[in-house]
Amino acid sequence: MPSFKAMIPLALCVCFLVGSVTSQLTSTFYDTTCPNVSSIVQGVVQQALQTDDRAGAKLIRLHFHDCFVDGCDGSVLLEDQTGIVSELGAPGNGGITGFNIVNDIKTAVENVCPGVVSCADILALGSLFAVTLASGQGWTVPLGRRDSRTANLDGARNRLPSPFEDLTALQKKFRDVGLDDTTDLVALSGAHTFGRSRCRFFDGRLNTSNPDPTLDSTYADQLRQSCQPGRDTFVNLDPTTPDTFDNNYFTNLQNNRGLLGSDQVLLSTSGAPTVSIVNNFANSPSQFASAFAQSMINMGNLSPLTGSSGEIRSNCRRLN
Ligand code: HEM
Ligand SMILES: *[C@@H]1O[C@H](CO)[C@@H](O)[C@H](O)[C@H]1NC(C)=O
Ligand SMILES: *[C@@H]1O[C@H](CO)[C@@H](O)[C@H](O)[C@H]1NC(C)=O
Repeated sequence: MPSFKAMIPLALCVCFLVGSVTSQLTSTFYDTTCPNVSSIVQGVVQQALQTDDRAGAKLIRLHFHDCFVDGCDGSVLLEDQTGIVSELGAPGNGGITGFNIVNDIKTAVENVCPGVVSCADILALGSLFAVTLASGQGWTVPLGRRDSRTANLDGARNRLPSPFEDLTALQKKFRDVGLDDTTDLVALSGAHTFGRSRCRFFDGRLNTSNPDPTLDSTYADQLRQSCQPGRDTFVNLDPTTPDTFDNNYFTNLQNNRGLLGSDQVLLSTSGAPTVSIVNNFANSPSQFASAFAQSMINMGNLSPLTGSSGEIRSNCRRLN
């Protein structure tokens, strides 16, 4: 029989391991302090979609860029101000938008529950409704994040993936933040089933004297029409169903119709472990939906500030 004393270090060790993989967040976090927060957020996202097809796409991209830099703490939202060098100066954040929608959500939430709901949680809830209002399947969103009092421009420079990277580099970026470099990478890339990209991020693939063999030639011709010299147009990331949250992103990849190089490498890198996952998601909308839900929870759990760390910002763009 091992003595009780001898088991204490073991127990501590197990607790530590469990603590490092489970979230301190909970879906019931606002049940007493702001019970209607979900429907308030949903209402504002729905309203924003009436004048902006990309409203949801913008929100989920903000959540992703938030979580990849020191965790989901609203840091991406901060503008330059005393003591803060905004993360928006990083190339990976160039052109990121949707701050007006975040502000509208924040205003609506503050009107009902002042000082209670974090901007980081607004991005997590906004991402859920981005998906469900585009006909995608939802998930239960863990809540209770608090907002950072810092930003990390170097972190944004180093951690955000680039559309020009190869699969090995993309996988490393996902591992480095603590995500799985295969299932999470492929599932979360499926968010490119809606929204747009500017030509500058893929026009290197359209060079006629050096055609990209993993780009369908008919699709390439269409893209050349949209991206004539000097026209940095926004093009649908999913040419099949541009504003619907479905698994067509993956069937597009099977047809060499991934818009970004970083999309197509998931399938076109021979022998890669991502290939079979892309094919599974292309064949099964429900497998994609449940993997996406789980990976959004995984991403949303990255290093949240909880307890008395950070603050609940009253303006998402500024420290209190
Ligand atoms: C895997 C690495 C990824 C790379 C290299 C990447 C890169 C990009 C690029 C270059 C754009 C176009 C930006 C512009 O023209 O301003 C874009 C748009 C977008 N990304 Fe990603 N992305 C990645 C992963 C993700 C993830 C994980 C999500 C969310 C879960 C996401 C969601 C989106 C959405 C929704 C848009 C469209 C935004 C809009 O219409 O405004 N991306 N991405
Ligand atoms: C919750 O918010 C929604 C949307 O703003 C509203 O329609 C509903 O009446 C609210 N419910 C409660 C209990 O306040
Ligand atoms: C197109 O590809 C050719 C051959 O690789 C290269 O020399 C040229 O610089 C490229 N053009 C542009 C605009 O990138």
